[in-house]
Amino acid sequence: TKKVAILISGGGSNMDALVKSMTGDHPARPVLVLSNDPAAGGLAKAAGLGVPTAVVDHRAFAKDRAAFEAALHSALLDVQPDIICLAGFMRILGADFIQSWEGRMLNIHPSLLPKYRGLHTHARALEAGDAQHGCSVHEVTAALDDGPVLGQAVMPVLPGDTPETLAARLLPLEHALYPAVLRRFAAGDARPVMLGG
Ligand code: GAR
Repeated sequence: TKKVAILISGGGSNMDALVKSMTGDHPARPVLVLSNDPAAGGLAKAAGLGVPTAVVDHRAFAKDRAAFEAALHSALLDVQPDIICLAGFMRILGADFIQSWEGRMLNIHPSLLPKYRGLHTHARALEAGDAQHGCSVHEVTAALDDGPVLGQAVMPVLPGDTPETLAARLLPLEHALYPAVLRRFAAGDARPVMLGG
């Protein structure tokens, strides 16, 4: 059974979907939910699901990203994860950290990559007049939101959509996509997952 650590910064709805998916004959189990923010709502959610939690507060490291990442790395080494899922984890990670977990770290991003890496993806899709929007799960590499795409979920942009309505309509698709990709990834199945469209 593969051991999965999930990194969050906020509400943790994707974490919740991932944890709940790892039951029965699933090839993986959650071993840790880790947040860089002690106030993240997802921490209580994880504890309620019976998953061990940890906090590495980035603010405790002032502007020393290397020290923050060393603490993050050591918290992860404690549980020896086979797979790390970034799930609404809002800190940019450095090349050294990423390299130590390369090929084992996934991220969900709220756009149809390679479009709209970085922030404000919903507003940018609207500004561009896109007919479709969606989310992607990709392998994490040193370049931001740029690793191999392992799955995407696509939905239409509707008249009157705002960044908020797009985000709200996309979230349930994220909750379907990420567990589907994790299951295949944990089973060593390299086929991409495509939902909707
Ligand atoms: C999700 O929409 C996720 O795609 C996005 O943050 C939200 C987290 O929600 N991630 C990013 O923007 C990564 N740059 P959650 O905490 O409820 O899972």
